[in-house]
Amino acid sequence: MNKQEQLAVGRRLLGHIDGRTTDLADAIFHNRVSAYASRERAALERDRLFRSRPIFMGLSTRLPKPGDYLAEDVAGLPVLLVRGADGTVRAFANICRHRGAPVAQGCGNARAFVCPYHGWTYDTAGKLLGTTDKVGFAGFDVAGHGLVRLPAVERHGLLFARPSPLAEGESATLDVDGDLGLIAQDLAALDLATYPLHSVDRVTPRINWKFAVDTFLEGYHIPHLHRKTIAPYFIGNVGTFDGAGLHGRMCVARTSIDALRPLPEGERNFRPHVISIYQLFPNTIVIWQVDHIEVWRAFPDRDDPGRCEVELAIYKPHDTDKPDAYWEKNRDIAIRTVLEEDFPLGERMQIGFESGAVDEVVYGRNEPSLVHFHASIRSALGVAA
Ligand code: FES
Ligand SMILES: [Fe+2]
Repeated sequence: MNKQEQLAVGRRLLGHIDGRTTDLADAIFHNRVSAYASRERAALERDRLFRSRPIFMGLSTRLPKPGDYLAEDVAGLPVLLVRGADGTVRAFANICRHRGAPVAQGCGNARAFVCPYHGWTYDTAGKLLGTTDKVGFAGFDVAGHGLVRLPAVERHGLLFARPSPLAEGESATLDVDGDLGLIAQDLAALDLATYPLHSVDRVTPRINWKFAVDTFLEGYHIPHLHRKTIAPYFIGNVGTFDGAGLHGRMCVARTSIDALRPLPEGERNFRPHVISIYQLFPNTIVIWQVDHIEVWRAFPDRDDPGRCEVELAIYKPHDTDKPDAYWEKNRDIAIRTVLEEDFPLGERMQIGFESGAVDEVVYGRNEPSLVHFHASIRSALGVAA
């Protein structure tokens, strides 16, 4: 977010605090609990939200050097993301063209990928370099059996891939700018390519993936659920919200914002007092914390709408002189708040959703980010409810 934008958001937040108001959605939003629990809905989401859209894969600093790679399953498709020898980030289906074994696991650095099953080898541009039995595969079209390419892009220090193969004649580079709109400008101003990775944690809570995203989309619950952890530092139920297409930006104020009141507006630096929460549709939350970046990604389970996998990645400034213990403390606060307060309650809510005893949940006008997220889902799915 540039300085002008920070001042504008800060002004809106102070106005809300003074008037005991918050940004409001146009109307109360009713959502069917089946959105969190039905298999049909989960299958539709997999195809229309995850497999046909750019999915955020991490900041560029997850793959800083040529040969750095990352392998993970995205909505049922094993994805291999790799920075090639030429510095370009490419995405492939992580499926060997012999008999389908994954050619890479986890993350690391490689000059080539050697399939663990029978040793076929691919370069970092996905080209099959050779088979291991020349007689058995005499006449086989080696050149035509590179890894299946997926479209990808590196933009504003962010990595995206679409977990479905390139169509005939389609560009291998995704266009995300048009889609991100105003958020692209904010993200460009953050200089995200300069934040190295500090830590990655993965958990598999028994909640629908959308609940994991919902957790970050309203400050209404902070004074209640997080009374003993983060509530003393935040002004609950006060925030700004700006939608950008299917994505959104929510900003909340820390209680410390009051320190700015005596200063003339031109001298106010809102940076230490405002947290910006970017929702990158469909499944990513990028949080611009006071001095670092926190990224949450939620992925639906392959079979069960009541389960998901959530990744928390913490990126710190490249020029920090703070010791590792400081960043560990930030990681610990994030884990304690979300994994020990939000998600355990969410698991109880998921049981309630699956019980069939209630038909719907309701999001208030004071939860505009949540309303926008679920309205965006409906629009991307092409469903009315
Ligand atoms: S499955 Fe990869 S070499 Fe056989
Ligand atoms: Fe929370």
